[in-house]
Amino acid sequence: MSSTIASILEETRIFEPQQNQHANIGSLDEYHTLRRCFSDDFDATWRDLAREHLDWRAPFTRVLNRERAPFFSWFEDGKLNLSENCLDRHIAAGSGDRTAIIWESEAGEVRRISYVELLADVCRAANAMRELGIESGDRVVIYMPMIPEAAIAMLACTRIGAIHSVVFGAFSANALRERIEDAEAKLVITADGGGRRGGVHALKPKVDDALSGGCHCIQHVLVVRHAGNEVGKTAGRDIDWHDALKVQPDSCEALTVDSEHPLFILYTSGSTGKPKGILHSTAGYLLWARLTMQWVFDFQPETDVFWCTADVGWITGHTYSVYGPLACGGTTLMYEGVPTYPDPGRLWKICAEHGVTVFYTAPTAIRALIKAGDEWPNQHDLSNLRVLGTVGEPINPEAWMWYHNVIGKGRCPIVDTWWQTETGGHMIAPLPFATSTTPGSATLPLPGIDAAIVDEQGKLVTDSGGLLVIRQPWPSMLRGIWNDDARYVDTYWKKFNNTFYFAGDGARCDDNGFFWIMGRVDDVLNVSGHRLGTMEIESALVSHDSVAEAAVVGRPDDIKGEAICAFVVLKAAWNEALVDALRAHVAKEIGAIAKPDDIRFADSLPKTRSGKIMRRLLRDIAAGRDITSDISTLEDQSVIEKLQRSGQG
Ligand code: WT7
Repeated sequence: MSSTIASILEETRIFEPQQNQHANIGSLDEYHTLRRCFSDDFDATWRDLAREHLDWRAPFTRVLNRERAPFFSWFEDGKLNLSENCLDRHIAAGSGDRTAIIWESEAGEVRRISYVELLADVCRAANAMRELGIESGDRVVIYMPMIPEAAIAMLACTRIGAIHSVVFGAFSANALRERIEDAEAKLVITADGGGRRGGVHALKPKVDDALSGGCHCIQHVLVVRHAGNEVGKTAGRDIDWHDALKVQPDSCEALTVDSEHPLFILYTSGSTGKPKGILHSTAGYLLWARLTMQWVFDFQPETDVFWCTADVGWITGHTYSVYGPLACGGTTLMYEGVPTYPDPGRLWKICAEHGVTVFYTAPTAIRALIKAGDEWPNQHDLSNLRVLGTVGEPINPEAWMWYHNVIGKGRCPIVDTWWQTETGGHMIAPLPFATSTTPGSATLPLPGIDAAIVDEQGKLVTDSGGLLVIRQPWPSMLRGIWNDDARYVDTYWKKFNNTFYFAGDGARCDDNGFFWIMGRVDDVLNVSGHRLGTMEIESALVSHDSVAEAAVVGRPDDIKGEAICAFVVLKAAWNEALVDALRAHVAKEIGAIAKPDDIRFADSLPKTRSGKIMRRLLRDIAAGRDITSDISTLEDQSVIEKLQRSGQG
């Protein structure tokens, strides 16, 4: 058990919710009433919410179709357009001049884009894409820094029914190529580069590299000029974004699509080698993005300034930097740069300068900023903040308390939100003015979400740890894995006979019904709130000429939550340069976030007699803990001592 989890499980402090008459959900009674609506009539409750919260071009006739379970569909026959729900709708309601996006660059440049302006840009981009031959259902890969054009590109796809797949800018050319090929994308939208730590992080060369090795599906590359660096241009393929948009009209008829029209694919790591393309669809996703903004962040579009620090390359960036705030007609802030540049006060300075009211970040960022010292937040006026959120990994009570006291001055409720790429939006989280909170607990499932803890046989467990499952479908659930129905069923449904969604997390539920998430139970690591498959890193390592075999495990880390520890068996003799070479190789194969923190060299890996690598044993060794595994099945007992020694030099 990690030290974080151990201290979480000892936590007993309770913070009662504050009174707030203006809150969207202002009491626990209201929460329970809403929950009861779902238990009384599940379908009718979803039906009413979907009718009330989305703008439909044609009404739906069926709420939930379970006939092809575990492939579910929601709001069948309904027709709508997502960009219209996020843009035109608010303009028609008289909010066209409201700021949709506030953007700040690392260098301090600020752009404010109103709903009217955003719609015009989205339309131009959509028209430009149509002219390039992009049709409904085509895939478009977006490989961008955190600039408004990333959101514009996403919304433009939805305007014409194209399916976007955003690839995080820090992923390598190889990772990009793999995703482009799996999605069979026709178009890449990228930028010359992004600002990072005072320099430029070049993106276009990585696109060129990715495309040079294949990707015959790609017909065009749209390049946003942003960082001002020189980039090569392939004639006939590469097109300047600004030139393409300039000549387009600023209106574009939004394509009416079905509720279930695929909206986006987002690749995430699983426990086997290849990343999986998580597929989300239109109406259900949008409904939940909007509802969770209102419930979990108590979002008030007229007055709030919402800032989710996640990059659009992750699901958090999709749902809470772009779609959630815009579906509500509110203001979202995007920051392009690192949180500690030029100093560790940068996030708090941005909060103060733009009057951020709701702030959402990852525990890893909080822990890093705690280390920098209280003087940084204390230099800035944080009095506009009213709700603080966390996401991505368990938050240790120390970090929770610091966030509460030093950032929120004891005034702001903390919402610890549990969810996943697959769930589309929050699943277990407090409602800021209704639920009492305890450091380390994500508290209660949201209304409509039937979360439970079960044992390996699917039997409900109380009082002890078990596996987290969701027992009813929900509108923003993934619709599948792109091009891999079997993997969808295998990964999420097979374990419990197609009846429960298996999240892959261990959790515990206490006497108050509060959920405590204990982390992944599969071979997926959570490094700084980023999800990485151990097998993915292992494949990257063994693709290096010197490596015969590799095993990757996580070990507890004070800042990152989990650090990456690789055990490597070499083909040839060891030399000092290999550590850096292997780290660089993994960065090239996957991206810098996957670089192992520790590399330990060994003569062999501990295996059972049937040849399975004993990962739990490796986890103990990596963490420097006493060995807790049963090693009676270990083939070669002497290997343990050697492995323990391999870390000491
Ligand atoms: C995994 C999903 C959902 C946005 C970011 C990550 C872990 C997520 C929490 C939380 C404890 C959490 C889980 C989950 N996780 N939120 N509040 N407390 N753990 O999305 O990359 O799909 O990763 O992140 O292990 O399964 P993701």
